[in-house]
Amino acid sequence: MILSGTSRIAGVLGWPVSHSRSPRLHNHWLERYGIDGAYIPLPVRPESFSSAVTALASLGFCGANVTVPHKEAALRVCDEVTSSARRIGAVNTLFFEEEHILGDNTDAYGFIQNLFEGCPQWQASAGPAVILGAGGAARALCVALLDAGVPEIRLVNRTKERADSLVDSLSQNGNTIHLKIGTWGDWENVCAEANLLVNATSLGMSGQPALGIDLSALPTTALVNDIVYTPLETDLLTTARERGNRVVDGLGMLLHQAVPGFTRWFGQTPDVDEELRRFVLGA
Ligand code: ATR
Repeated sequence: MILSGTSRIAGVLGWPVSHSRSPRLHNHWLERYGIDGAYIPLPVRPESFSSAVTALASLGFCGANVTVPHKEAALRVCDEVTSSARRIGAVNTLFFEEEHILGDNTDAYGFIQNLFEGCPQWQASAGPAVILGAGGAARALCVALLDAGVPEIRLVNRTKERADSLVDSLSQNGNTIHLKIGTWGDWENVCAEANLLVNATSLGMSGQPALGIDLSALPTTALVNDIVYTPLETDLLTTARERGNRVVDGLGMLLHQAVPGFTRWFGQTPDVDEELRRFVLGA
């Protein structure tokens, strides 16, 4: 690590934050490009979040990532937010410039970059997208897919009220809505003609229950993506691949969402490549 009197410092705010792979990822890039800087984990309780952000700006940090549970609170501490953050309703990247706090959300960007990198032939306009889940991740995916030009999004969630409120808040935040709420009871119709299926729930993650969905009604032409990346090869991806669907794993979303922050904080656009994937997986 190179640290001088003019080092650029960034970090990740979360509670807890010890699970975050962002320090490993950003410090690897700093080392790879020989940059005078550091990226540190910042465990911050929810009640201290706002004062912590102000303090970081005063301390001369160049920025920070924001993770669970602070992403919505981060929207409120910013002097200015990007349209992506406003439409998603959450901030995951902060830029401190002359004590001015700018908030961005790069999750939608990371998701779509990963999809196109993993399957360049996939065409957003070719048919409906099915999203499982209605939490923070699903919100970012909806915005990304609407921008990419999917003709329709079918949202399926255990708690229907949460899917309803996601659709409501997305429409209030200035998104053009082509969203339908599907139900597990109507799963075959939800899958019909789908061009994409994404798991945006925590099911299938190590230590969580299995997703356990029946893919028999899903066209084999549909692309299947899981935002879960621990394990990298989820049961969903294995089942989809075995029946002939193209699949994209979730690790690339984590890597690509970090690119805009790193670029602006440290003045270097970092590469997302196989060596980086192996390094982050080795954590
Ligand atoms: P994130 O910000 O990562 O999206 P979240 O907001 O906690 O996390 O959302 C988790 C998603 O996984 C939700 O869609 C949740 O469904 P509910 O809205 O019904 O809670 C879904 N999820 C989590 N555990 C689940 C389970 N055991 N069965 C079905 N869905 C589950």
